[in-house]
Amino acid sequence: MVKVLFVCLGNICRSPMAEAVFRHLVKERGLEHVITVDSAGTGSWHVGEPPHAGTRRILSENKIDYSGIRARQVARRDLEEFDYIIAMDATNLNDLRRLAGPRSRAVIARLLDFVPERETDDVPDPYYTGNFAEVYRLIRAGCEHLLETIMRDHRLTEEH
Ligand code: 4NP
Repeated sequence: MVKVLFVCLGNICRSPMAEAVFRHLVKERGLEHVITVDSAGTGSWHVGEPPHAGTRRILSENKIDYSGIRARQVARRDLEEFDYIIAMDATNLNDLRRLAGPRSRAVIARLLDFVPERETDDVPDPYYTGNFAEVYRLIRAGCEHLLETIMRDHRLTEEH
């Protein structure tokens, strides 16, 4: 199993959006029995909550399932369990690097690091900007490139 964890601050806007989009892409390629997907927040304010209404709306508009997603806080154990720990912005990345002990062998990177022609390195926080459509566009591009990278790293091919 290849285990992928998306991380933002609150785990209600960006990382659950990335979790849902990435799971959708994984299923499209028939790889759901090879790649597992989860998300978490560095903060604990929203633990147990479903995704933000803005995230739910843009996912529904794009026919992407987000059922069952609930916010949780990232734990030190995650840094040892997951293979790819994908931050939305530089602050999340620094927090994750600090949390990762010497035993962590995970790839810890920002989502947009995987997009060669990126216009920005950070996924802006729609909790403050309100621009969920822009965030969806960035996350969709990031997830497509991330999946290509993982398939290449692990020599995976589409299964249907
Ligand atoms: P997210 O957005 O990190 O993309 O889930 C936020 C959600 C909540 C808060 C900050 C960012 N908050 O401060 O409550």
